[in-house]
Amino acid sequence: MTRSHSNRIKNALKLLKTSQQRAALVVSSNPSQIRSRDTHYPYRANSDLYYLTGSRAEDLTLVLRPHSPEPVVLIAPPEDKVKNLWDGAPAPIKPLATSLRARLVLTTEPAKQIISLLRGYDTAYLHATAATPSGAVKEDLSSRSSALLRNLPTSLVDAEQFTARLRILKESSEIAQIKRSAELSGEALQNALPLMEAGVLEREIALFLEYFYRIHGAEAAFGTIVASGASAATLHYRSLAKRLKKGELLLIDSGAELDMYAADITRMVPVGGAISPQLKDLHDIVLRAQMIAISKIRPGVPMIDVHRAAARELTYGLKYLGILKGNVSQLIKKEAYKPYFPHGIGHSLGIDVHDATPAGESAVLQKGMVITIEPGLYFQKPTGPLPACGVRIEDDILVTARGHEVLTANAFTKNMDELSTLMSG
Ligand code: GLY
Ligand code: MN
Repeated sequence: MTRSHSNRIKNALKLLKTSQQRAALVVSSNPSQIRSRDTHYPYRANSDLYYLTGSRAEDLTLVLRPHSPEPVVLIAPPEDKVKNLWDGAPAPIKPLATSLRARLVLTTEPAKQIISLLRGYDTAYLHATAATPSGAVKEDLSSRSSALLRNLPTSLVDAEQFTARLRILKESSEIAQIKRSAELSGEALQNALPLMEAGVLEREIALFLEYFYRIHGAEAAFGTIVASGASAATLHYRSLAKRLKKGELLLIDSGAELDMYAADITRMVPVGGAISPQLKDLHDIVLRAQMIAISKIRPGVPMIDVHRAAARELTYGLKYLGILKGNVSQLIKKEAYKPYFPHGIGHSLGIDVHDATPAGESAVLQKGMVITIEPGLYFQKPTGPLPACGVRIEDDILVTARGHEVLTANAFTKNMDELSTLMSG
């Protein structure tokens, strides 16, 4: 918890107050996910709760009620000595409540408590996540007849629609965190270089990257993708079971989550150093599309224009490779590139790797946004002069007052000639 968290709560209360109706916000910790019986998956804190409170605690609910004398309420279970014996004691909740100027309620019936706090409000922003107090409140209120809803919110809206409006523009402390995650991700890639040779399993490289994150106090922000040759035609390739072959292009899409902030980088590596001129052309077409897309980034630019700039360049490239034929303007109009470039140009990045993106507002770039730019071309089967393969190149970009800053600029080279020399050495 830092001062920025009480400021974030202040901003959230202010924003709630601008709603036409009386609106409250309910954010609960994520549930602990059961793997089997009494074994659980590793715990990941709720992103909105972390953003607003700085706490990664389990079993915590924050309720914000801007029209009430006690606008900030934290709800937690009473101390459970048996649970503490098995899992260790959680961080003390009282200092958190004090620093957030919150009323602390300790109860074994959080949903009941939250419902009583929501009396007099018309709208509740809440997560519908199962097995959480906020999910239970959503279920309870949405199943009530209007007679039983008197004085309780009738409009139940996904909390993300509200929190995204706060989280979309990053504070300088958040930008610093993303930079640290980007730096660690780049270091991991560089340290993995000796593994990127023929005969190595895709999985070995992915596990090395994740090991590198873990020993530096971080973890993978998403399932690490290491895809060689034809594997890279699968956008979110997961099996990681192939051995690298000389002359193939290797795609690595990975990012560390350090102190709850993610990075997301994709780079291509020529296995054994030498690749065919056609694969080199393909790589350079995607790289040029990425650089053109990045050059468009500044406040006021619609994200769709950035996407179109990349799609245009990719279309020229597909024509150059002889894969698309005809008039380029017509090809772009018909979106002939879509079978080969089927995804968006990028996404917001922050506490979540695919971070909060409010509908509407996301369409136009603003100072303080952090986004990825990741054009790609994918071929499920041999096409024109190319084998089945995929190329994607991804960087993390901060929108600044006058333009942009590439946060991953020094992560790992994108120069194929330099990589060829490095890999054949
Ligand atoms: N890096 C994975 C993705 O953006 O979907
Ligand atoms: Mn991405």
